[in-house]
Amino acid sequence: MPKRYGEMSKDMSDAVLVTGGAGYIGSHATLCLLEAGYSVVVLDNLCNSSARSLERVAQICGRQPHFVQGDTRDTALVEQTLKDHNVSVVLHFAGLKAVGESVEKPLMYYENNVAGSVSLCKAMQAAGVFNLVFSSSATVYGEPETMPIDEDCPAGVPTNPYGLSKKMVEQVLTDLAASDDRWSIALLRYFNPVGAHESGLMGEDPQGIPNNLVPYVSQVAVGKLAALQVFGDDYPTVDGTGVRDYIHVVDLAKGHLKAIDALKSRKGAHIWNLGTGVGYSVLQVVKAFEKASGRDIPFNIAPRRSGDIAECWANPEKAKAELGWVAEHGIERMMEDTWRWQRDNPEGYGV
Ligand code: NAD
Ligand code: WQD
Repeated sequence: MPKRYGEMSKDMSDAVLVTGGAGYIGSHATLCLLEAGYSVVVLDNLCNSSARSLERVAQICGRQPHFVQGDTRDTALVEQTLKDHNVSVVLHFAGLKAVGESVEKPLMYYENNVAGSVSLCKAMQAAGVFNLVFSSSATVYGEPETMPIDEDCPAGVPTNPYGLSKKMVEQVLTDLAASDDRWSIALLRYFNPVGAHESGLMGEDPQGIPNNLVPYVSQVAVGKLAALQVFGDDYPTVDGTGVRDYIHVVDLAKGHLKAIDALKSRKGAHIWNLGTGVGYSVLQVVKAFEKASGRDIPFNIAPRRSGDIAECWANPEKAKAELGWVAEHGIERMMEDTWRWQRDNPEGYGV
């Protein structure tokens, strides 16, 4: 008999599979799940992470997730893992996320992100598991004409293979849910995840020079990088620099637990934005980081980065109404927690 999540007992005796659970967002979600009493199995190939993140999870909450080092494209392994651990719901974070790299290596991105998601769904179907929460991205909106962005805003055309891979997986999952009403699927469109756990023990650990603003700024603050390049100061925004909706990673992780609950009474595929509804410019972020860290962040104005949009922030009302979720932490707290993690772990999980 296939397991129906809506009929699952409240004692959470069934487990959650977290693909990509050793990574930045997945490790924070794993911690939240364990703290809420779930059993957790992490499946991660460690291509962009360290299993040390999971040791830190255990250090914080006193509980360990099961860890399987493996790949979402290994359908047989995923099916066996689902069965072995009596999994009833999957949080699917595993994937590659570097926009520039996706332009250079599109096949790698489509294979990992799209084929990996298809493989996961085949394994879930074979194991009789039909509850899935997918890590999508605001990048699927492309360049919307009005702000804030709500879920009814038509998906635009992402300008790179990474964004297109997210859009494709959303389509695959929407078609899958339409084909078989056993599926309950959440498509969570994240805005810009930043921050770290308040303990300073867990955070984002990018390999090489960071592509994203907040990890770059924090490495300038700690002295690993000399100065920030601000990509354009001639956008039609508050101060000419790009505006984004930054969201604390712990708020984001909590949104996944709310999505698990919401799927219990919903069939089909459902889209929810996870953002704060507030936008900050690059220079406002720099100022907030300087305040949180007490360090100067030298910066230069550089040309616009190809593919960037001027501004992007969420209308988070649907998640509030349907998930009962709102982001609790503001920009100050995001920067304080990022700084604590960076200051205490200048080499990330490497030391
Ligand atoms: P991350 O790179 O820190 O985590 C991804 C994890 O997946 C890593 O631990 C990596 O080793 C693992 N992985 C990659 N391919 C795998 C595979 N085929 N099989 C098993 N494990 C695999 O990234 P993150 O920031 O935690 O992002 C998590 C998810 O959220 C990704 O799908 C990403 O695209 C999405 N997302 C991230 C952001 C962001 O800005 N961080 C924004 C929107 C959406
Ligand atoms: C934020 C702002 C930059 C770096 C990307 C992906 C998106 C999503 C999140 C996964 C922009 C400016 C940045 C720097 C800068 N990922 N900036 N100097 O571009 O909103 O989103 O990450 O789904 O798909 O595209 O985030 O942090 O790179 O940039 O001036 O060194 O900071 O121009 O205005 P972005 P970001």
